[in-house]
Amino acid sequence: MPVSDYEMINAWTQVLKLSKLEAGQTVTVLTGAATHPQTLSSALVAAQSLGAVVNRLDLLPVNADKALSRDSLAYLGTTPLTGNNAAIAALKESDLVLDLMTLLFSAEQHDILKTGTKILLAVEPPEVLVRLVPTAADRERVIKANARLSRARTMTVTSPAGTELTCPMGQFPVISEYGFVDEPGRWDHWPSGFVLTFPDDGKTSGRIVIDKGDILLPQKCYVTEPITLTVENGYATRIEGGVDAALLRDYMSSFNDPEAYAISHIGWGLQPRARWSTLGLYDREATIGMDARAYEGNFLFSLGPNNEAGGSRATACHIDIPLRDCTVSLDGEPVVRNGKVLDQPQDN
Ligand SMILES: [Fe+2]
Repeated sequence: MPVSDYEMINAWTQVLKLSKLEAGQTVTVLTGAATHPQTLSSALVAAQSLGAVVNRLDLLPVNADKALSRDSLAYLGTTPLTGNNAAIAALKESDLVLDLMTLLFSAEQHDILKTGTKILLAVEPPEVLVRLVPTAADRERVIKANARLSRARTMTVTSPAGTELTCPMGQFPVISEYGFVDEPGRWDHWPSGFVLTFPDDGKTSGRIVIDKGDILLPQKCYVTEPITLTVENGYATRIEGGVDAALLRDYMSSFNDPEAYAISHIGWGLQPRARWSTLGLYDREATIGMDARAYEGNFLFSLGPNNEAGGSRATACHIDIPLRDCTVSLDGEPVVRNGKVLDQPQDN
């Protein structure tokens, strides 16, 4: 559905104010071949109207010859910053980078963040950005969940479909995604609204049942029959089921990388304005599926790398899988019960 320029400029203004953009700071808008023109033009107007010095940096695409999917989050290989010292220098000199291209995690991005530059990714279509424009209340809720998750040493997940997973934790930090960047060196993604961490390396065990109706990303489809993952020593060692399991096995095997099967981030969705049902209303290539990653009460887990949190596992394959109806417990105490978040009084 079309969005007016006025509405998009207002949304950007809210995000930039929440990100504490000050007059005289330098904003670099990173663009690529798939950048939405209205998201770009409204970002430029909003940043300039708040008194920022505004640049635009357009980078060339990479990885098309290797990726099976057109989804920008599907293939985590090299990025347009790899070996691109001029671009890296420009981003390091910026106070805020608005990534309308999908930079993806990389060592170069990590170095840029270390200089204090903030990076905000925003690539969903304008109507999704406007519906899920972040608020201070979103941040508060995610920060509260972060504090709870940071204290825990074991996450367990169960579901009526048969999931029974145990994830020892504490080796890696907890990461909050609430949609804006209010601290130096912070990376975030508009839209989002979830909390995540990574289990201790090689320690997760149990069974995950991806049930009928659960979502696979970047496949961007609802599973039509259950997929059962057997998890041993931190890796999915068997992927069983019907045709959906066979499709997942085939896709993952194309990377030819055993590290693709590692349990990556684990956490839960906290964004009430994001919906499980949205994906069914969109063409697959019109969205990257942030509603699915953020909808309130999901258990979001992934397969693939953990270098984003300081681990040593880098793999180009990354699958995000939000599950419905799970009970997520921290050291035995539920924080999500049957797909409902328990930490808010109105939900009890
Ligand atoms: Fe992920």
